[in-house]
Amino acid sequence: MTDYAQELRNNAKTMVSAGKGILAMDESNGTCNRRFEALGIPTTESYRRDYRELILTTPALSDYVSGPILYDETIRQSTALGVPLLKVIADAGMLPGIKVDTGAKDFSGHPGEKVTEGLDGLADRVAEYYQMGARFAKWRAVITIGDGLPSRACIEANAHGLARYAAICQAGGLVPIVEPEVLIDGNHTMARCYEVTDTTLHAVFHQLYMQDVAYDQMILKPSMVVPGKASGEEASVTDVAEMTIQYLLKNVPSTVAGIAFLSGGQTKEASSAHLNEMNHRFGEQCPWPVTFSYARAIQQPALEHWAGETSRVSEAQQRLLHRAKCNSLASKGEYTSELEKQLALV
Ligand code: 13P
Repeated sequence: MTDYAQELRNNAKTMVSAGKGILAMDESNGTCNRRFEALGIPTTESYRRDYRELILTTPALSDYVSGPILYDETIRQSTALGVPLLKVIADAGMLPGIKVDTGAKDFSGHPGEKVTEGLDGLADRVAEYYQMGARFAKWRAVITIGDGLPSRACIEANAHGLARYAAICQAGGLVPIVEPEVLIDGNHTMARCYEVTDTTLHAVFHQLYMQDVAYDQMILKPSMVVPGKASGEEASVTDVAEMTIQYLLKNVPSTVAGIAFLSGGQTKEASSAHLNEMNHRFGEQCPWPVTFSYARAIQQPALEHWAGETSRVSEAQQRLLHRAKCNSLASKGEYTSELEKQLALV
């Protein structure tokens, strides 16, 4: 069996190298189509390709992004002129990643909760993706906060799945991004979000430990501690940064290669400001790089501007690059809200 340990360590370090983060563009066709429909963009394979080509051919994207996370359809696509998207990524000096879970499905016996599927045949799929050129993978588990939720069963089942996935990826040469997302939806308090996120992370690292996952060969993609979207509770940027760093320091071993947050439905400005505050105020306390792996918080302005029109590709790319730059600066604690004003000039 090939020993990928050193390669995995090197790639994990590259993914979170100074000033860089990961661009999540691995929406399944269903999710991508929903976002297209909201903007009146046709939901066809060629429009999805055009959009992914727009993202990946953005000039200088690799100044701020170490690698994109792709979906199975995308990793097999080529540009309109026939260049494989994997070659576009390699030529830009980025590492390609791939979403390997098959979605969060209803968790039997537990109404209102989900469990992520995709372990069957995973080793074979990992081997194929590695051979194609992928070097990291993503698996997203979701935890819902609600009346009596989450159940212990949901947390444990998802933690177990994340660790199984991570071990299989490491055996096949892909750096696993371990993503336990505590959803922002609901009217719960920030304190409740902290409690659930803390419990979830503890269970995830227990399973990673049990299944001998190498911490220095993985990236954690967690959610931030924020009040539920419908709670009406206001939290300051400092509160979010402080409580988030607190649960990370409590639960994440110092040897984990890096932390790359999801945005989870926060606004693009809040996503940048929170990441910035964590690095600016608490960076010196953190044993791991703390960066971004955003989808909506990077892509949304570009998607909305493009709206399926070829003539708007270049301006859409400027909007994408602006968000990538803001988040790159936030990963160094150098972002300011003044930077947002530059966007008006784009
Ligand atoms: P958001 O940043 O839009 O939450 O997406 C991150 C992601 O990859 C979800 O799996």
